[in-house]
Amino acid sequence: MAAHIRPASPHSSSDLSALSRICVLTANAGKDASDNHIIAEMPGYVYAVPYGAPAVRDIPESKTFAFILESDEPDSKGEAVGYVVGTADTKAYEGALEKVWWPSLREKHPLALKEAEEDGALKAGDKSYLEILHKPNLTPPAILTYSPAHIHINILPSHQRRGYGRVLIGAAARHLRETWGVQRLWLGIDPKNGDARTFYKKIGFKDLREVNGVEGVEGLDGEYLGVDVNSVIV
Ligand SMILES: CC(C)(COP(=O)(O)OP(=O)(O)OC[C@H]1O[C@@H](n2cnc3c(N)ncnc32)[C@H](O)[C@@H]1OP(=O)(O)O)[C@@H](O)C(=O)NCCC(=O)NCCS
Repeated sequence: MAAHIRPASPHSSSDLSALSRICVLTANAGKDASDNHIIAEMPGYVYAVPYGAPAVRDIPESKTFAFILESDEPDSKGEAVGYVVGTADTKAYEGALEKVWWPSLREKHPLALKEAEEDGALKAGDKSYLEILHKPNLTPPAILTYSPAHIHINILPSHQRRGYGRVLIGAAARHLRETWGVQRLWLGIDPKNGDARTFYKKIGFKDLREVNGVEGVEGLDGEYLGVDVNSVIV
């Protein structure tokens, strides 16, 4: 393999920046979202960096992890080209964010910025993330009945369709099972991200609307897919 997986270091600012960079480069239904933002860190604040950040990881109940896919190819050796992040306890994680993650970001990016009129102050993409920072979407209870554990996976285009997605999901599943005894995991998907849906279905994920015993998923906004961890450990 011309890339390997390693844990992200919570004390490495370059690892945390890599999570943020890869996130924005894949945040528009799997494609580059940079043009939607003045504040390029916005998607990472929500979907990537907190899983690796020391303040959150210092709260043991948040049960987060972050793995980086690092290139071994001569022209990009040592560069982070993908990641998988997640938590074994989504509810505790959301509680930890409320304590140690959102408050400083809310101070740094006040909601009032949404009304800023000057040209170039913020783009529409920033404004929608600003709302999430100030009023995060909590995971619906129906999803938590399926599993407390969720993940996010993002790989740069240079390393897509080369088998790394399957391997990263396997690494996350193994870590969740071996560290916290997790049996199943889920993830949220942008309904516009058809490529990701094809990938997840290919490796065995099911739409939670089709899984017995997950009541109340039909009426939810968004799309949730889930899988048994044993079936994706490679
Ligand atoms: C979606 C993503 C994680 C998939 O990872 P990947 O490394 O590209 O996928 P893999 O190479 O491991 O593919 C695993 C299987 O899925 C199939 N697959 C992956 N992407 C596919 C696509 N777009 N169309 C059809 N099949 C696809 C592969 O052919 C492979 O099948 P095989 O093992 O039978 O050959 C990755 O492409 C990505 O990060 N995309 C951008 C960010 C994103 O959308 N993240 C998900 C947000 S919910």
